[in-house]
Amino acid sequence: MAELKNIMRIDGGVPLNGSIKAQGAKNAALPVMAACLLLKGGTLTLDNVPDLYDINTMRELLKSLGVNIKDLAANKIALEVPEDIKYEAPESLVRKMRASSLVLGPLLARCGKAVMPLPGGCSIGSRPIDLHLKGLVQMGAKIEIRSGVVYAKADKLRGRRIYLDFPSVGATENLMMAAALAHGETIIENIAREPEIDNLASVLGSMGVPIDLEGTGCVRIKGIDEVSSGCDSVIPDRIEACTYILAGIMTGGHITVNNIIPDHIDSILAKLEEAGANFSVSKDSITLFNNNKRLHAVSFRTMPFPGFPTDAQPQMAAALSLAKGVSLIEESVFQARFLYTDELNKMGADIKIKGDTAIINGVEELHGADVKATDLRAGAALIMAGLAAKGITQVSDMVHVWRGYEAIDAKLKSLGARVELLD
Ligand code: EPZ
Repeated sequence: MAELKNIMRIDGGVPLNGSIKAQGAKNAALPVMAACLLLKGGTLTLDNVPDLYDINTMRELLKSLGVNIKDLAANKIALEVPEDIKYEAPESLVRKMRASSLVLGPLLARCGKAVMPLPGGCSIGSRPIDLHLKGLVQMGAKIEIRSGVVYAKADKLRGRRIYLDFPSVGATENLMMAAALAHGETIIENIAREPEIDNLASVLGSMGVPIDLEGTGCVRIKGIDEVSSGCDSVIPDRIEACTYILAGIMTGGHITVNNIIPDHIDSILAKLEEAGANFSVSKDSITLFNNNKRLHAVSFRTMPFPGFPTDAQPQMAAALSLAKGVSLIEESVFQARFLYTDELNKMGADIKIKGDTAIINGVEELHGADVKATDLRAGAALIMAGLAAKGITQVSDMVHVWRGYEAIDAKLKSLGARVELLD
């Protein structure tokens, strides 16, 4: 991926019109790529893989372990895994991306050992992996943590009944992959129910792993001795899709987002309907009609799926900063996911934080300003605000945005936005 520029300059106030296609989901692609590590001399072929910084980091990590990655076509890759691979994840890559911790379960299950630095915290809170480690210990792993590095060993993991104290997405994914090669059946209860979990179950199924995802927050996996080569596609990115839908609303535009699975954003669509947005839903697209009416205030708490997703919280806050009335957003998943509100207030928003709740007093208009992206979704929210604001906005630290939004400048330009990238 070419080095992308670090500032986006936006000349706001232009309604977005036209249609775009949602990318493959970053948060589905990362775990299913890690699943290739379960192979001993086989290939996992994946389609609809987005071209993002985080995907590149995962490619670097897998290559450092010995996986050979071939580009078969745009957004289509073959992950070729030899008989022998390394089992130590390089610190530089794990520090760069917390999702690197998703190699722990498959490495331990397939190599009998794994060494992985603890992923660091980030601007949205500490990101512990205690639930991942607790589940692996229950499956018979010996785990030691010495100076911030996890040393895990297990001759053969054993299938167990595991109850997750919190429906952690990453813990669910790590334990599902570990269970694939465990001895016997693993039943994991209170699992995450995000669509990305279904995508991982489908990929593991394509590799010959008997999985029963009952859709009731429980999954049964019968461990097998060896997985076989598999082939599957990454689901559309529900968070990227709703980012563009909200940008259409904020700019009073008329846009269609294609290649999505509407069921995956039910909670967001329900909130938008409550707020007075005007849109229609087909089996694989959403069309937003420009009704030039301001949204009216709505309130919600972020929750694990199927609740309102924390990853769409900053974007929804940006949209509600222009709504009529006072909205309350309670962030219940992460400890500190409101850093971006200071930046939005520089643009004329009126947002106060009280504990884990943002109080958003809607204003008629935002004005351009120089702002900084503090994390991936915060950056997206600031770009959306810049598109709606009168005047010029410069969003710096775009490196965060390139982690999760493929070609966001080109997509916005295709919808009529006046954006350019600067060094
Ligand atoms: C995934 O992170 C996503 N990342 C996040 O998206 C998303 O915000 C999050 O799920 C929640 O939906 C990827 O899928 C790569 P969790 P993950 O484990 O797996 C606590 C984005 O913007 N927790 O469900 O790390 C944790 O601290 C990113 O694309 C523990 O306490 O999320 C957090 O408060 C940001 N112990 C909460 O649970 C653990 O062992 C949710 O974490 C694990 C998690």
